[in-house]
Amino acid sequence: MKYAPFEIERFFRQHEFSAPYGISSSDCEPLTLDELLSYASPQRRQQFETMWLGYTEAQGHPELRARIAAMHTGIDAGHVTEVVPEEGIFLTLNALLEAGDHVVAIAPSFQSLWEIARAKGCRLSFWQQRQTENGWQFDIDKLEALLRPDTKMLIVNFPHNPSGCLPSRADFERIVELARARDIILFSDEIYRFSEHEPGLRLPSACELYERAIVLGGLSKCFGLPGLRVGWLITRDGGLAHEIQELKSYTTICGGGPSEILALIGLENWRVLTQRTVDIVRENIAACREFFGRYDGLFWARYPRAGTITLVELRAEMAVDDFAAAAIQEQGLMVLPASVMKFEGNFFRLGLGRRGLPHALEPLDQVIREHLL
Ligand SMILES: Cc1ncc(COP(=O)(O)O)c(C=O)c1O
Repeated sequence: MKYAPFEIERFFRQHEFSAPYGISSSDCEPLTLDELLSYASPQRRQQFETMWLGYTEAQGHPELRARIAAMHTGIDAGHVTEVVPEEGIFLTLNALLEAGDHVVAIAPSFQSLWEIARAKGCRLSFWQQRQTENGWQFDIDKLEALLRPDTKMLIVNFPHNPSGCLPSRADFERIVELARARDIILFSDEIYRFSEHEPGLRLPSACELYERAIVLGGLSKCFGLPGLRVGWLITRDGGLAHEIQELKSYTTICGGGPSEILALIGLENWRVLTQRTVDIVRENIAACREFFGRYDGLFWARYPRAGTITLVELRAEMAVDDFAAAAIQEQGLMVLPASVMKFEGNFFRLGLGRRGLPHALEPLDQVIREHLL
């Protein structure tokens, strides 16, 4: 079994720490350690400073798992396994899929969500997004047509990377019902959940609706804590959880103790942290509306109702790949072309979560003037 190179990680490895500007990050402005500690209760702060740096519990810190469970209805700490977010995808697909299994995966998407199934020799069908006047959508009828009597797993990701699509509650419930009616495992990547721009938009978590759902969540995106490397898998199906936990002994074995305590501090203050994300994203949306609106039809952009990202279309002769190459070479500006996420068309990903985004619009303007006007 050989995995293809992870294109988006390769792209970020190449540019993330050398390019002075970027407009395509998917995370929200990371906090500093002292900022996070300023939210800690005196007891937690002391716990962090005096903690024992030994191995930790394989399933994750019990208090952390209880915190995560409390953010979901009908879930308890026993249903939660702590993982590094990306590890959660690796474990779930490797533990539960075999060569020949039929899998339906949302597309485009974060590459590991389908690449691991492909590398294992699964039969893959892609549920493709659609560009509409109102923004990005996924047709449920198309999904229904892709499901087969022997489909083993359906993989979805809402709010969606890279389009930012958030389905209606009725549509999300229909997706869950389609899986339930066929006894399909539903792997729901909800790493952008809790960043809805209005709280009323938050969908239920798939693990609350369906016992054969496995949910991936984590602190990397809308909590502003990607460096903690803390995420979680939640499922009410003990058999599925067992398979995943067995495999974790071959990856990280257990979480990092300091990260677990810092994650607890973050989750004890999750409303403050997610509101911070929403405030930054809202400001950036306003700046981008004004900026892209200036160029008279050169860009097509629809802004998300949740999450930190969207796909913008460049409506010009120039290929977005060439535009992105010019941006990095001439201005040190990182622009992620959608081709890196195997999406055809002249699109790039716009990341709305970073405080530096308005400053990156100046070099972007320079590239536009040089090549497109
Ligand atoms: C949809 C999705 N799932 C999972 C992950 C993995 O998160 P992390 O990079 O923090 O492991 C990402 C990261 O970009 C993502 O976009």
